[in-house]
Amino acid sequence: MVDALDIVDPVYILTVLFFVLALRWMSRPETARNGIIYAGAAMLVATLITFLTPGLGNFALMGIALAIGGGIGWYAARKVAMTDMPQMVAIYNGMGGGAAGAVAAVELLNPGLAIGSASLSVVAGVIGAVSFAGSLIAFLKLQGWLRAKPITFPGQQPVNLAVLGLAVVFGILLVAHPVPFALTLFFGLALAFGFLMAMPIGGADMPVVISLFNALTGIAVAMDGFALTNYAMVVAGTLVGAAGSLLTILMARAMNRSIGNVLFGAFGATEEVGGPMVGSMKPIEAEDVAVMMAYAQKVIIAPGYGMAVAQAQHKVKELMDVLESKGVQVKFAIHPVAGRMPGHMNVLLAESGVPYDRLLDRDEVNPEFPSADVVLVIGANDVVNPAARRAGSPLQGMPILDVDGAKNVIVLKRGQGKGFAGVENDLFYKDNARMLYGDAQATVGKLVQALKKS
Ligand code: TAP
Repeated sequence: MVDALDIVDPVYILTVLFFVLALRWMSRPETARNGIIYAGAAMLVATLITFLTPGLGNFALMGIALAIGGGIGWYAARKVAMTDMPQMVAIYNGMGGGAAGAVAAVELLNPGLAIGSASLSVVAGVIGAVSFAGSLIAFLKLQGWLRAKPITFPGQQPVNLAVLGLAVVFGILLVAHPVPFALTLFFGLALAFGFLMAMPIGGADMPVVISLFNALTGIAVAMDGFALTNYAMVVAGTLVGAAGSLLTILMARAMNRSIGNVLFGAFGATEEVGGPMVGSMKPIEAEDVAVMMAYAQKVIIAPGYGMAVAQAQHKVKELMDVLESKGVQVKFAIHPVAGRMPGHMNVLLAESGVPYDRLLDRDEVNPEFPSADVVLVIGANDVVNPAARRAGSPLQGMPILDVDGAKNVIVLKRGQGKGFAGVENDLFYKDNARMLYGDAQATVGKLVQALKKS
């Protein structure tokens, strides 16, 4: 006779296969939506099949927990604005870390726990608790409920190190003597370290840190999986850990920062090293920009965080359509860290119906700028700042979009606001640059109207 366990494990392996495939699909915009649907479906199957695990009780409690968690998740995901996505990812990730920590705590209270499982649970517990506390701080900062600026105090690093060291000591104690007193102190210290670790990180650096906490949550889940001999948890956790680590490295690299600098640099706490600004910012009117574009052969649009804030993507698609109807070639220059989360610009532009083949990444588009008649910089700042090529600038070495090589550069922004790095932008002072002030959605709307009339 086939018993329940015989079904559970093969189904887990099947779901794991779908997780791997889904990750692959998520790497391309055309297949990303399907990837997410398949991953969600696989997760649902993995959750439901767990109910068939032999020896499981408390079905009512599990059902209630799933209904509450699933309900909140469903509602929040439908309501959240695209610009609030980073904090939603942060809080969901934090919940994952918290759950992994809680599973580890329950395991550690199990009196007959073998030393191997206890050690794994301690590792899962510390990582899960750090991820939970850190993600919570990330959420509060991004939501604006906590000061987004780095919160620092003298002796911060030694204090952090001491707290982590003590958590490790109590973790070792726990493996030897799993008593509630040591367990409470262990988790208290791990949570404190998570809070302390995230406090000095500026709000705008948070996406990198969230990605790091995401990787940590994955590792904690994998450790729990080993302790519980649950294959689905081991593989799914490892996948999250690996994907999160890679994403963290790629994001940090695209910002020209080391992970250490993001974690310990308190970016944004220091003032900018002044740059040699020559010339002045020259304003221009929408009507003049429309004429310039109507006679152009090639227009490249470089979007950034401001396009997301203004929710201007639909107007931008209209602009592309009207330009193309006049025979103008339109391309989009996508910087890997434009906006505030990976793929931010791709998601917004795809949502508005811009075909994927118009989106060129940095390496593809940079050689095209010199042949562009007009570059429209829509709410982008740091990712187009030539200060990155200047020694001594806080942005020095950051790979940028070389928009300043175009014949005309039109910068759409509301006023004198700086970018996330808080650095003056050399581009705005260049001879070939003009400033078109106003909210990006309204300004692009004006350009569309003016082009339609011309
Ligand atoms: P930013 O450098 O943040 O600049 C955004 C610009 O948009 C500002 O200069 C702002 O100027 C303008 N703006 C804001 N609201 C606007 C509106 N409603 N209409 C028009 N303009 C508006 O953006 P970026 O160039 O996309 O660079 C992204 C930055 O975030 C980089 O430094 C990157 O390293 C960092 N970062 C990115 C990520 C990821 S994964 N994408 C993660 C962490 C950090 P005004 O206030 O004058 O309008």
